[in-house]
Amino acid sequence: MTCRPPFRAPPSPTTATALPEALGWIDEGLEAIRRDGLERPRRVRTGRQGRRVELDGRSLVNFGSNDYLGYAGDVRLTKAASRAACAEGFGAGASPLVSGHSSTHAALEAALAQLLGTGDALLFPSGFAANAATIAALVGPGDIVVSDERNHASIIDGCRLSRADVAVFPHRDMAAAERLLKGSAARRKLVVTDSLFSMDGTMAPLDDLAEVSARHGAMLLVDEAHATGVFGARGSGLIEETGTADGVHVRVGTLSKALGAAGGFVAGHPRLVDWLRHSARAWVFSTAHPPAVAGAALRAVELLGEEPQRRTALLDRATAFRDRLRAAGLDLGDAASQIVPVIVGSAERAVALAARLADAGLFVPAIRPPSVPAGGSLVRASLAWHHTDDDLDRLLDALARSLA
Ligand SMILES: Cc1ncc(COP(=O)(O)O)c(C=O)c1O
Repeated sequence: MTCRPPFRAPPSPTTATALPEALGWIDEGLEAIRRDGLERPRRVRTGRQGRRVELDGRSLVNFGSNDYLGYAGDVRLTKAASRAACAEGFGAGASPLVSGHSSTHAALEAALAQLLGTGDALLFPSGFAANAATIAALVGPGDIVVSDERNHASIIDGCRLSRADVAVFPHRDMAAAERLLKGSAARRKLVVTDSLFSMDGTMAPLDDLAEVSARHGAMLLVDEAHATGVFGARGSGLIEETGTADGVHVRVGTLSKALGAAGGFVAGHPRLVDWLRHSARAWVFSTAHPPAVAGAALRAVELLGEEPQRRTALLDRATAFRDRLRAAGLDLGDAASQIVPVIVGSAERAVALAARLADAGLFVPAIRPPSVPAGGSLVRASLAWHHTDDDLDRLLDALARSLA
């Protein structure tokens, strides 16, 4: 399939004109962001995600994508999307409860429930919406959510949205999580965690979380956004890998990372899913995502079964690469996955390092507060199945030289 880019990027909108007086406060806010070195420029990508990426006209080896298995630019997904769009139209036209739930969506939900071995699954327009809406549907005023301090923004927003009390425990500190549960007389208790933390590549102690939650009668919600497709014999995530499915009540995942498509899902007991269909507001009050997106995701779920070697090769290579970086004296914290953070401290150092890596032909984004705690800025190399040994050698070499 040959495709030409449909659009040429237009010039960026000018920021030179004055803001209306009522919006004047924005200038001060933006100035503070610039002063703190936290400005986030957006680059325009041309062409597909893949081993290389063209950003603002510059072609770089791509260590800055969550496309861990190389499916985002895979023509097999494009074809599946076209087939679904051809059969069911592009737009879903309505929320799933009205007329937006197409046969492609239904097939995808069934495939996800089967992949995860749960009774049912429910699609959301994004992983963000899945977390936020699900947490708010499970707890409310008078309840408590016990949440890891490094959880994703969508979990944090879901906690706020729920109006439950929120108790945050230090990253992966099970004793602290247990103290919070023990000390609470809340009506319902919910423990929430990422399984694979997206910025530092660490893993939640799912075994311990399941045990602690069970001891205190708490529900356990695990967000597998970065583990879906990568871990587990079938590729369903770290819950599968660690054999903790029985202790996890609510399994959230996204279709937008290793699965190369878009959207989020929640999987679990059919009556849990039924409850969410009645009470998860981002599901009830939002248009279903396009059938084409569901068609592409469905093809990606099939590919997880057909191409297990992609995830095993990726994880083997990631383990060897982390060992080499650590042997070269780089600080990766407790990273243990395909997400490889190189921690440098200040936001300025992270930005400078990312710029030097780009000069060496490598796209490795700088991650700064609020995505990581102040003083914990890093460059985040996302390894993917399609990287070559030469790509990894070049990255190691450029990191070692830049940080020497
Ligand atoms: C841990 C985690 N959960 C949820 C999300 C949201 O997923 P989506 O991009 O599909 O909205 C992300 C994405 O950045 C994430 O990193």
